[in-house]
Amino acid sequence: LTVPPLALPQVIGHRGAAASAPENTKAGFARAAALGAAWVELDVQLTRDGIPVVFHDDTLERTTSGRGALVDTDLAGLKRLDAGAWFAPGFAGEPVPTLEEVLVLLVELGLSVNLEIKAGEARGRETCLGGLAVACAVWPADRPKPLMSSFAESALIAAAEAAPEWPRGLLCETWPEDWRQRTTRLDCRSLHVHWRHLTASRVAAVKEAGLAVLAYTVNERRLARRLWDWGVDAVFSDRPERLLVGAG
Ligand code: G3P
Ligand code: MG
Repeated sequence: LTVPPLALPQVIGHRGAAASAPENTKAGFARAAALGAAWVELDVQLTRDGIPVVFHDDTLERTTSGRGALVDTDLAGLKRLDAGAWFAPGFAGEPVPTLEEVLVLLVELGLSVNLEIKAGEARGRETCLGGLAVACAVWPADRPKPLMSSFAESALIAAAEAAPEWPRGLLCETWPEDWRQRTTRLDCRSLHVHWRHLTASRVAAVKEAGLAVLAYTVNERRLARRLWDWGVDAVFSDRPERLLVGAG
């Protein structure tokens, strides 16, 4: 298998452009593109009836007009909810999008994407396989493959089986002392870590091993510059426009 190098941008729009448009909505991804982002990150989960949708939380309350758990909600019910008004009145009526709807939009906008499979270990495999079935059908063969990432190893194992040529990134909440073994075992190309856990020497060690380093969530230019100086390849940002000014 020949693998092209990961061509990462310095700034990836987090959940779209989460500071200036409702996260994980089509309006948010369009905003990220308008602000100059070349890549976006989004969260993939399954509805009760198994449809991959773009949604971050376990529950509906924070970002929609609905209540309860996403896993207990069918797509039809989810589609009746408002996922924009909570953010600002001007976004009222913005729906929770399916993964398919978002990917079609990203292709139109010329955006590249990091698909974060948002599931615990128990649901990682089915969530990843559901997402990949849609993404493989929709994503054009001539575009760089989406970068698949997850906190759940079960999702990354499923991704390696179902779409070995799609790059994978191991996502970690804290510093994984065993990052070398885990990324090797899962055949990952990148390590995605909260910026608080990064140091110059940790970044250098990961880069020396041939992996890309991605840091979330970075909304200040000074912090982004420090991370880039250490060799961090890309930062996820709710405010891509702020960081893009200082990029390059
Ligand atoms: O993928 C990076 C980042 O999005 C992981 O954390 O909770 O924002 O999905 P979270
Ligand atoms: Mg995420």
